[in-house]
Amino acid sequence: MIIRFAEREDLAAVNELRRQVNDLHVAGKPDVFKPGFEDSLRDYIFEIQEDPRKKIVVADLDGRICGFAVLNHITRPENPFMFERDYLDIDEFCVDRNCRRQGIGLALIRFIRTYAKENGFTRLELNMWEFNQDALAFYEAAGFTTYRRYMEMSL
Ligand SMILES: CC(C)(COP(=O)(O)OP(=O)(O)OC[C@H]1O[C@@H](n2cnc3c(N)ncnc32)[C@H](O)[C@@H]1OP(=O)(O)O)[C@@H](O)C(=O)NCCC(=O)NCCS
Repeated sequence: MIIRFAEREDLAAVNELRRQVNDLHVAGKPDVFKPGFEDSLRDYIFEIQEDPRKKIVVADLDGRICGFAVLNHITRPENPFMFERDYLDIDEFCVDRNCRRQGIGLALIRFIRTYAKENGFTRLELNMWEFNQDALAFYEAAGFTTYRRYMEMSL
């Protein structure tokens, strides 16, 4: 398996994985996520590919895209509360449902860490939905720790 940055011809396969994530999010948080996989969500991957602050990473298993991640370079200026922030955020992440528990997710994270270190980043971040306990178990196994929470109250 090769982990590499995506080419334009990979993006249809990446969208199949994005559809899996969207379906999972719709099932877990239907009040927030739009069901189906609208054209705008499908086409958003092309905007991501063109965005100089973003990168798409893919896991290529003998020519088949079986995992992907979207990276986003975030910079936030200093404000009265906080110092300036500059970090690499993992925006989207998925391994094909037929290829899970084979170490592909960890291989993606290893590639992202190496890329981030080589490019001078000192922090990786991501956010996730609380219902997705499988993802939490994975991210913790990969070495991430929780440093912030979002809370809600239904009214
Ligand atoms: C979360 C996800 C990316 C994990 O990918 P993966 O390739 O299956 O992960 P790995 O095989 O590298 O797993 C590494 C370790 O993480 C942990 N882990 C992974 N999936 C897990 C699960 N479903 N439940 C509990 N622990 C899990 C285990 O410790 C695992 O090691 P092990 O298999 O030796 O026990 C994958 O399940 C996925 O794409 N899920 C749907 C999309 C999603 O939730 N994306 C993230 C939030 S947007």
